[in-house]
Parts: sequence; C-alpha cells; structure tokens
Amino acid sequence: MSSQTEQSVSDLVEAAVRLLAHGSPEDWNRHYREKSFQEHFLPRAKDALLFDFDYQNRQVLYQCINGRFIQKEPIDYLEFGVWQGVSFSHWLNINTHASSRFFGFDSFEGLPEDWNRGAPKGTFSQKGAVPTIEDPRATFVKGLFQQSIPPFLDGFAVQNRLVIHFDADLYSSTLYTMMALDRFITPGTIFLFDEFTAEKYTCEYAALHDYCAACYRDYKVLCSRKDYVKLAIEIVVPE
Ligand SMILES: C[S@@+](CC[C@H](N)C(=O)[O-])C[C@H]1O[C@@H](n2cnc3c(N)ncnc32)[C@H](O)[C@@H]1O
Repeated sequence: MSSQTEQSVSDLVEAAVRLLAHGSPEDWNRHYREKSFQEHFLPRAKDALLFDFDYQNRQVLYQCINGRFIQKEPIDYLEFGVWQGVSFSHWLNINTHASSRFFGFDSFEGLPEDWNRGAPKGTFSQKGAVPTIEDPRATFVKGLFQQSIPPFLDGFAVQNRLVIHFDADLYSSTLYTMMALDRFITPGTIFLFDEFTAEKYTCEYAALHDYCAACYRDYKVLCSRKDYVKLAIEIVVPE
C-alpha cells in the first residue's frame, strides 16, 4: 500500500471514529478548523518572529509590531473589543506619533452571545460605561458592531497605515467586522488578534479563514506568541 493510500485510509478511519464517538456538528467544526489551521495557517507563519510572554505583558507584542513593522509611522488604529481600554491604552502609549488616530469600538455591554462555558453573553459588560482616556487622538464608537460600524465607515477615510485589532473573541463579531471593513483593507494592512486559536480555532482563526476565502485575501504572519494565541498578520497580494 502506498503511503498516500495509507494516509487516506487512516483519515477515513479517524473520520468514522469521530462520527461514531463525537458526531456533533460542533465537533466536526473543531476538527475541520484544526486541519485548516495546520494546512492554511502554519505555512503562512513559517517566517514569523516567535516569542513568549504572558497575558500581563501583551504590550511586548505591540512593541514588536510598532518597532519592527510600523517603524513609528503614524497609524489608523481600529480596535474592535475595547472592554476597559487596557490594550487600547497600550497602543496609545506605544505609538506616540501626533498624526496617529485611534478608534475603539464596543457596546460596553459585554459579549452579545455566549462564547464558551466560562464566558456567557454579557461577559465583559461595563454597563455601557466608556473608558476615560484623555488622549485627543482617541475616539470611542459605542454600540453593537453590526449597528455602529456602517454609519462610522460612511464618514471614514483612511489617512495612515491601517492597524486593526480584533479582540471581540466571537466568530460572528470578528467575521462581521472584517467583511464590513474589506473595502478599506489593502496589502500592508496589519491585523492583530488576541485569542486567535481559542475554542479549537473556531472563532478568530475561523473568521480570518472565511474572510480570506470570501474576499480573495491572503496574509503572512509577522510575529506571534509561540502558541499562536496572540499574533499579528499582514495582508499581502494573493498569489
Ligand atoms: C475580550 S474583551 C476586549 C478586551 C480588550 N481589548 C483588552 O484587551 O483590554 C471583548 C469585548 O468585545 C465586545 N464585543 C464583542 N462582540 C461585540 C459586538 N458584536 N459589538 C460590540 N461589542 C462587542 C465586548 O463588549 C467586550 O468588551
């Protein structure tokens, strides 16, 4: 038996066992997303800078992106999922260019749907309170993305390199945002993720994969934590 046939047989056996043992659509989605991650994502990460840091030191990743890839140029930074404004404030401190603009989007009412057992609908609610940030370069856009993004974009024109931070955790919120912003995204746009592989690749990774498939987009990974949970990619011209 050729090694290719052996591989196909073993894939079939694995699929049959999964169907019998764990046949739910959610299990199949997780399996499909994991395979997709290995086949589509990992090759795009082969030249990425990899390093380790803990959650409290996430700004190390932001400093790397700003120092090595943005090189202190002005940026238009859009963050989707602001909560208390911690990552947003890190970016204000790291990119000090006077012409940079920072836009933070959130309902400040928490997740609009259940994410996982530990994070049901409403998790991260600030009861509608917007963080207090004095920096004149910062603007908050309050509301459900699905309602707040279209009117915002009607009056938006890109002035600087776009850096988009997707930190809404959910597949729905992340995919919606990417699709809504697509007309502003160009090669060189940087995407940043905070929970990229969470829930077995079915949320932020899955949203990126489906966005790229639907809009004929491609990317390379710039830098990442070693476990690929927190990382930055750059949109590139598709081959
Ligand atoms: C993990 S928190 C953001 C954390 C923050 N970036 C930080 O690191 O400090 C996720 C946020 O996404 C927001 N969110 C998720 N989906 C949303 C949607 N569709 N519309 C508005 N806000 C949303 C939630 O309200 C929540 O505050």
